[in-house]
Amino acid sequence: MPQQPTQKRVIGAEHISDAHARGLLQIEVFPGDIVTTLATESAQRLGIKLLDGPLPKANVHRTDGATAMRRSLYRRSPRWVAPSASSAKRRVHRFSKIALVGAGNVGCTIAQLAAHADLSAQITLIDLVPGLAESIALDLNHAAGITRSKAIADGGTDLTRVANADVVVVTAGRPRTPGMLRSDLIEINRRVIRKVGEAVKESAPDAIVIVVTNPLDEMTVEMLHATGFSRDKVLGMAGTLDSSRFRQALAQAASVNCADVEAMTLGSHGDEMAPVLSRARIKDRPLDVHLSADTIADSAQQAVAGGAAVVKLRRTGSAFIAPAYATLEILDHLRGARTGTVPVSVMLEGEYGINDVVLGVPCELGMQGLTGVQEITLNDQETQALHEAARAIKDRLADLT
Ligand code: LAC
Repeated sequence: MPQQPTQKRVIGAEHISDAHARGLLQIEVFPGDIVTTLATESAQRLGIKLLDGPLPKANVHRTDGATAMRRSLYRRSPRWVAPSASSAKRRVHRFSKIALVGAGNVGCTIAQLAAHADLSAQITLIDLVPGLAESIALDLNHAAGITRSKAIADGGTDLTRVANADVVVVTAGRPRTPGMLRSDLIEINRRVIRKVGEAVKESAPDAIVIVVTNPLDEMTVEMLHATGFSRDKVLGMAGTLDSSRFRQALAQAASVNCADVEAMTLGSHGDEMAPVLSRARIKDRPLDVHLSADTIADSAQQAVAGGAAVVKLRRTGSAFIAPAYATLEILDHLRGARTGTVPVSVMLEGEYGINDVVLGVPCELGMQGLTGVQEITLNDQETQALHEAARAIKDRLADLT
């Protein structure tokens, strides 16, 4: 629902048809707004409710004065409450070193965001293309005179550079070209992952590994095998990216800010993605209060097909801005800069009734890696989607061996 406009509006038939085209089911009419007769008729015909605004805010809990003050100072969404004084004291860690294996667009953008956030003392880039990682490291260091980032970047081709990294982020591998499925990359990229995994096992045996290379879930399984690490040390980045795409699609459809949308996707980073509609909220209300079933389905589809849409436009190479931010979100959860759960692809050990396969689920993270998998209540359709994703990934991996 829109903020109360400062000027009176004339709501005409074109506003109604526009709202209808966007799948909106209701329009808030503020005192002083003029609604034309044609608009009223169109709204009736198209089943759009004209509601007298301002509507009461949903679910705003009664709070003490201090909480109310924190809400008003830091308000982001109706449900969000700024951290209390005790949780505000929690320790946010700074990594001593993060290593980025792959200095393509995703690796390069992660390096920039990490330097900007000053989340690590050292940022090491590694790429097999001679000069690429070194040049990005040098370029990034040159920017520190402006950004005043204390992080020091370095780069090279040798995988032993991962030594002593707290976290190794792996983006190396072939990206998709238009028309390709992520799973089409499985053969070629598993060789890359195996090589990187063996180097990490040898040179950085205590590191946490974040896998970004596609096909994400399968490559995370491959990384677990190559390193021999426990599941808490090997995390796949997909759910943070897909959930961001889903929230953005819903926000755009409902004409609200992304901060007003809570939604996530679970399952695979591919066609078997499972956007969780039952728990998604716009302004703290279920999706169907704001959007038609078709528009909700379309927003979910935008999350599933978001990566392919970017590939189709770019023709060579895939998305890198949203993937880099999504990786930063995981790094921030690891170091305590963000709390709560975050969707991450991890090896399941019975959670959701699923075993022996990597799948996106809500996770708690800390400086040691995965600290817990949260089992949220899903409806039957969502549970089924999760199980279908597990089956599809297992089948694809079985075909390889
Ligand atoms: C995407 C790729 C990175 O979803 O998987 O954009």
